[in-house]
Amino acid sequence: MDLGLAGKQALVTGGSSGIGLATVRLLLEDGAQVALCGRDADRLDAAAAPLQARFGEALLPIVCDVRDEAAVAAMRERVLDAFGGLDILVNNAGQGRVSTFADTDDEAWRDEFDLKFFSVIRPTRAFLPALQESDAGSIVVVNSLLARQPEPHMVCTAALRAGVQNLVKSLSIEFAPDRVRVNAILLGLVDSGQWQRRFEARADRAQTRDEWRAALASDKNIPLGRLGAPEEAASAVVYLASPTAAYITGASLEVSGGISRFA
Ligand SMILES: NC(=O)c1ccc[n+]([C@@H]2O[C@H](COP(=O)([O-])OP(=O)(O)OC[C@H]3O[C@@H](n4cnc5c(N)ncnc54)[C@H](OP(=O)(O)O)[C@@H]3O)[C@@H](O)[C@H]2O)c1
Repeated sequence: MDLGLAGKQALVTGGSSGIGLATVRLLLEDGAQVALCGRDADRLDAAAAPLQARFGEALLPIVCDVRDEAAVAAMRERVLDAFGGLDILVNNAGQGRVSTFADTDDEAWRDEFDLKFFSVIRPTRAFLPALQESDAGSIVVVNSLLARQPEPHMVCTAALRAGVQNLVKSLSIEFAPDRVRVNAILLGLVDSGQWQRRFEARADRAQTRDEWRAALASDKNIPLGRLGAPEEAASAVVYLASPTAAYITGASLEVSGGISRFA
């Protein structure tokens, strides 16, 4: 299926690992020019090198912390200088925080608020004029099923994810007259850098990665019986971002192996 991405220009925040990196790869393979960012320069270089060998100047890696307003402004200049415009913004950068209410102090709440909201607000504000000039302007927010199905062991991530979901809806309505679409994906458990870090911190050191993943899928009662692959989440992002989804805005697509309990 041709998603109409040839010649389109995209930015994927948090593009140096996991779902973001898989999204970058799919967009490039579909003929888009793609900028990606992350905070760690070595990780960004390692992720970009094989893609640069295949796609050359279609790829633009930029070191940027999306919580940093000046860094996001500098990224906007780099992207617009190189591409001349932007059609697609994927707000993906971030990670979850594992903590119960008892374990979460004020600073942790503020940090998580800053990450969850400003990772969407800053890039969106910086690139909105460019998206408004595009004939295919589109924003996809990578969100979590926690937005609708909270879990007490991730109390502040879940509460803020719900707020981001609400924000996505407001933005979709405000930006619709300019034909800039805003959608979200709601993730369950996708086997990315986050889960690799939790595997490395596991209590049972004898457990292999496959055993650990199988136990996790079973503990979490995932109906499809496994974690998702980054490419499976990325496919949903790319579809919603693409001109093929031109009549979809304000929507959320679950990518969770069926784990949600709401209808
Ligand atoms: N995997 C899941 O099961 C799952 C479930 C629900 C939601 N999510 C969400 O999906 C998104 C992608 O995560 P992932 O699972 O693919 O994890 P990942 O493999 O750890 O990738 C996270 C990416 O975000 C970047 N990043 C983190 N903080 C950043 C910041 N402040 N500024 C710029 N880049 C930043 C990381 O690079 P640096 O560290 O170098 O900055 C990395 O490239 C995240 O928002 C995550 O919370 C994932």
